[in-house]
Amino acid sequence: MADNVLFIAFPYAAVLVAVVMSVYRYFDHRFTYSSLSSQFLEREQLSWSSVAWHYSILIILLAHVLAALFPGLWGALLGGQFRLYLMEITGMGLALVAILSVIAFIWRRLTNPRVRAVTTRGDWVLLAALLAQVALGFLTALLYRWGAVWYLHTAVPWLESLVRLNPQIDAIAPLPWLIKLHFLGGFVIVALVPFTRLVHAFTFPLSYVWRPYRVVVWNRRAH
Ligand code: HEM
Repeated sequence: MADNVLFIAFPYAAVLVAVVMSVYRYFDHRFTYSSLSSQFLEREQLSWSSVAWHYSILIILLAHVLAALFPGLWGALLGGQFRLYLMEITGMGLALVAILSVIAFIWRRLTNPRVRAVTTRGDWVLLAALLAQVALGFLTALLYRWGAVWYLHTAVPWLESLVRLNPQIDAIAPLPWLIKLHFLGGFVIVALVPFTRLVHAFTFPLSYVWRPYRVVVWNRRAH
C-alpha cells in the first residue's frame, strides 16, 4: 500500500504539480523564470563550484536518461567487464564532484552575509534536497554494486510503466529502502522545480545566439 502511494501516486502528482505550476509561473510572473544571480555579490567560490556542479550533474542525469530510453544499447555498452568498471567508477567520481559542489553552494550561502541575505527559504529547501539526492545516489552506487546494470531491470520497467499509464511496481518493490529513497527523491526534485530556482533549467538560452545584447536587472517580487 505504502509503495503504491510513494511509487505510483506520488510520481504522477509530482509531474502534474511540476507541469501545472511551471505553466502558471510562466504566465503569472515570467521574469522570475531564472536562477536569480548572486554572482555580483560573490564571484570566486561560485564560479568553480557552479561549473563543477553543472558538468557533473548533467553527465550523470544524461546517463540516467539515456539508459532509460535505450536500455538495449546501454546493456550492450556495459557488456564488457572493463567498460562496466569504467562506467561505475566514472559515475561515483562525478557523484563526489556533485556532492562537493552542493556543499560549496551551501557553505557560500551560510558564510557570506551578502549572499545569505538574498537566499530564500526555497533555496535552502532545494539545496538540502539536491544534497540528499546526490548523496543517496552515491551511496546506492557504492553499496549496491553494478547499479548501471540492475537499473535496467528495476527502475527502467517501473519508469516505463508510469509513462505508459500502466503503473507496475513489482520490479522495484523488493529493493532496499536506501535505493527506494533515491528513486523517490527524483520525483521530489521534479515537484520542487516550479517553486524554486531549478525552474531556470527550462531556460536553456538558445536564443542567446541571435538575440541582441541586453542589460540584466533584478526582477524580484516584493514579499
Ligand atoms: C526516479 C528517478 C531516478 C532513478 C530511478 C535513479 C536511479 C539511480 C540508480 C539505480 C543509481 C545507481 C547507478 C550506479 O550504481 O551506477 C543512481 C545513481 C545516482 N543518481 Fe539517480 N536516479 C534518479 C534520479 C536522480 C536525480 C534527479 C539525481 C540528481 C539530482 C540523481 C543523482 C544520482 C547520482 C549523483 C548518482 C551516483 C552516480 C552514478 O552512479 O551515476 N538521480 N541513480
